[in-house]
Amino acid sequence: MLRKGGKCVKILLMQSFYTTICFGVQANSSDGRRKITCVNFSSPLRNKLLRKEVVMVLTEKETAALKDLQSQEKICAKKYEKYSQQAKDPELKNLFETIQKEEQKHYESLGQVLDGTVPECDCNDSNGKDYTPKATYMSDDNSEDKMNDSFLATDCIGTEKLVSSEYNTDVFVFGEPGVRKLLADIQVEEQNHAEMLYKYKTVNRMS
Ligand SMILES: [Fe+2]
Ligand SMILES: [Fe+2]
Repeated sequence: MLRKGGKCVKILLMQSFYTTICFGVQANSSDGRRKITCVNFSSPLRNKLLRKEVVMVLTEKETAALKDLQSQEKICAKKYEKYSQQAKDPELKNLFETIQKEEQKHYESLGQVLDGTVPECDCNDSNGKDYTPKATYMSDDNSEDKMNDSFLATDCIGTEKLVSSEYNTDVFVFGEPGVRKLLADIQVEEQNHAEMLYKYKTVNRMS
């Protein structure tokens, strides 16, 4: 609120990327009614603001590929959630829970692309390399628990191989470099999942 010549002057700034951008001056006129002046910003300024919005138009083929990958990720997340409940070894439970969160993140990233935005990715994952699970089962352990956990881990390695190969194929469908980079990053993360599961099996002497 500003005071000018004994009158009350209010400056309004309204902006929208999609509608008119106005700079309005509201003042009390002599008859007591409010008077509003609304001036459109020039189009170069408006265009400059609009350039912040990157609209990506996907082809039918790209949309179909994204939806297929998304449904894969949904099943993966559900699978890891179920398997974390079925695993006997707490180490394996934790691993399944960690991977479940990453599959959920993959699902959401693909959803963002379907909505026209490409999320940032670092493409520098080392989760597989850095994972050092502690051993729970000995080599001569033939318990039901070990058999159960071995089955779950082996089954998930098979799933990761399939999912990874889907990304490897689908990445070529996309024209936008940012999307290709994202899909390549997700593929590396799927390979990391397989590597962590393989390490878990190895340290626990599972065949
Ligand atoms: Fe995934
Ligand atoms: Fe995965």
